[in-house]
Amino acid sequence: MDFKELTEKQKAQVARGFDATPELVQFIPYLLQDLWTLGSSPNLIIEILRSLNLGANTTLLDLACGKGAVSVKIAADLEYKVTGIDLFEPFINEAKQKAKDNEVDGLCSFNVEDIHSAVRTHKNFDVVVLASAETLLGKIEKAITSLRSCVSKKGYIIIDGAYLKENSKIENPDYTVIKNYDETVKALTSQGDEIVKEIIVPVDETKRINDEYTELIRKRSEELAIKYPDKKVLFFNYVRKQEEECKIIEAEIVGCIWCIRKN
Ligand SMILES: C[S@@+](CC[C@H](N)C(=O)[O-])C[C@H]1O[C@@H](n2cnc3c(N)ncnc32)[C@H](O)[C@@H]1O
Repeated sequence: MDFKELTEKQKAQVARGFDATPELVQFIPYLLQDLWTLGSSPNLIIEILRSLNLGANTTLLDLACGKGAVSVKIAADLEYKVTGIDLFEPFINEAKQKAKDNEVDGLCSFNVEDIHSAVRTHKNFDVVVLASAETLLGKIEKAITSLRSCVSKKGYIIIDGAYLKENSKIENPDYTVIKNYDETVKALTSQGDEIVKEIIVPVDETKRINDEYTELIRKRSEELAIKYPDKKVLFFNYVRKQEEECKIIEAEIVGCIWCIRKN
């Protein structure tokens, strides 16, 4: 499915997944070409999964997988059978290539699909992952209902997400789904499931990654501004949005990975 074939709502969603405007989406592959991981922490996710001792051939569904960084690394390190879903075809193509480059294409399947329909049809996985995309499935209670429908009983749900710091004054509408720690944990366990592991992403690590990503994106946006001078403002606004986003994340939010066992 080409981006042009998506509905307006889906285009807006994909754009939101990149903190971009729909007009900018065609330039996203160029702007993000130096990044593989798009905001998540694959190594911490692997640390959690390794501690569960689930063994090779465990089945894992990676929703909004982007370029497949989480999936491919899990297949390479833990030999799980992974299925990655994303609506943005250029990234699914990159994910397939990365799986080949890492010699795990036999363990990986990547598909262009909307995660809203995918959660209705993909069932009985051992593990489902939603990484750096926690707002895409709506409010936490709704998201957890969708996620738990993809795994079998005693299966695991991994959310690489965030919670608001105490006394956060955040007013940005993009963050209305994110709640403080207690509210988040309450919502995550609202269906009687159990949080079995939790890793808080170190602030220094978040800052280091944000700074590195922003610089790489800035360099690519400057190249695009030379090639498309009439769209200069569009590119520079994107970099500015990234910088604002990083400031919000560092000041108001704590990155956290939860592993929940479905009861
Ligand atoms: C911030 S990226 C995270 C990618 C990946 N999980 C990672 O950590 O590298 C968010 C992804 O969500 C995807 N996306 C947005 N809306 C979607 C939808 N409705 N269905 C599937 N993917 C979607 C975007 O295309 C983008 O690749």
